[in-house]
Amino acid sequence: MGTAAPTREALALHGGTPVRSSLLPYGRQSIAEEDIQAVVDVLRSDWLTTGPKVDEFEEAFAAWVGAAHAVAFSSGTAALHAAAFAAGINAGDEAITTPLTFAATANCILYQGGTPVFADVRTDTLNVDPQQTADRVTSRTKALLPVDYAGHPADLDSILEIADRHGLTVIEDACHALGAEYRQRRVGSISHMTVFSFHPVKHLTTGEGGMVTTSNPKFADALRKFRNHGISSNARDRQREGQWHYEMVLLGFNYRLPDIACALGLQQLGRLGANVARRRAISARYSAALREMPGVIVPRIADDVLPAWHLYPIRLECSRLSAGRAEIFRALRAENIGVNVHYIPVHLHPYYRVRFGYKGGEFPNAEAAYESLISLPMFHGMTEDDVADVISAVEKVTQHYAA
Ligand SMILES: Cc1ncc(COP(=O)(O)O)c(C=O)c1O
Repeated sequence: MGTAAPTREALALHGGTPVRSSLLPYGRQSIAEEDIQAVVDVLRSDWLTTGPKVDEFEEAFAAWVGAAHAVAFSSGTAALHAAAFAAGINAGDEAITTPLTFAATANCILYQGGTPVFADVRTDTLNVDPQQTADRVTSRTKALLPVDYAGHPADLDSILEIADRHGLTVIEDACHALGAEYRQRRVGSISHMTVFSFHPVKHLTTGEGGMVTTSNPKFADALRKFRNHGISSNARDRQREGQWHYEMVLLGFNYRLPDIACALGLQQLGRLGANVARRRAISARYSAALREMPGVIVPRIADDVLPAWHLYPIRLECSRLSAGRAEIFRALRAENIGVNVHYIPVHLHPYYRVRFGYKGGEFPNAEAAYESLISLPMFHGMTEDDVADVISAVEKVTQHYAA
């Protein structure tokens, strides 16, 4: 393991020996003993949910990203839904987003009765194109939802400028980008609302979980009510004050993140800087090794950002390879490299095709990117040997299929 494969070695797909004996996943959590202890301590305490750990996690998270407020949710999807609510998206409204994302980014607009309007991506960073975004603004547009694809911040200043011009709210989907920097500012402190996910493959995990950060107290207030049935106070405050009275003032949901999860998140936050640094080191090693391999295009990084590297997506230059993406994908999996594809463009999913009449061909940049993308394993717990295995496998497979 860990050494470059000789040119003519048989692919595992064709019966050869795989580069690794066991599968390396594309993403994985890292759990330390102190994480386990923190969760156990909560299990022994009075509050399993909506207790002191929620406030502690939110305050520490807000401070880390440099926002005035952070509001925790039961998932990134719930956090997106709440942000769409707080932005005032309602029936008949539109919000503009990228097709090259996880469906949840667009679905949150539908949850509020609005219509997702897609704008195509740039061909370099694969983030939404600001010009295409501006071209799609109408009198019905309420919000813009850029996604920091793979952890590379979108063109946030351009998008905020479009929003300013038209009185729109920017909800940045930073589910890939915790720890990223844009023009020397941390993601989470830039857009009107920024949404994060704490799924196990992310930079920090709470099992399931999410967060919205904002510097606007009105948004923070709406977000807090929305995650708690639309009720204006929480059970712990009422107990502390000896009160039973509460008022439901808007139609909300139960989107609360329990103290058990917040205790885990708080511990993980202590290692966030190190996790992001490790992902940057892995990506630097990948890019240095893969950049010269024929048929492989490494991710492009703009000069004014520091990506957080949730994903490391390569693009295949199929004209230089004798096989398509599907076969290369299968060959890498056979080498026990847990590759993945991010993303099937949202408008091509059957639900969107049937409901909105998409047929394919509407967003050529996103569709062309999708046809060539493969995400290599990327998680902060990867060892140097793991990284070497991935590089060896990509070299072995692309050399085999060199056109
Ligand atoms: C871009 C993007 N948005 C939203 C989500 C939803 O987050 P969650 O899985 O925490 O609901 C994800 C999840 O991976 C994502 O990648």
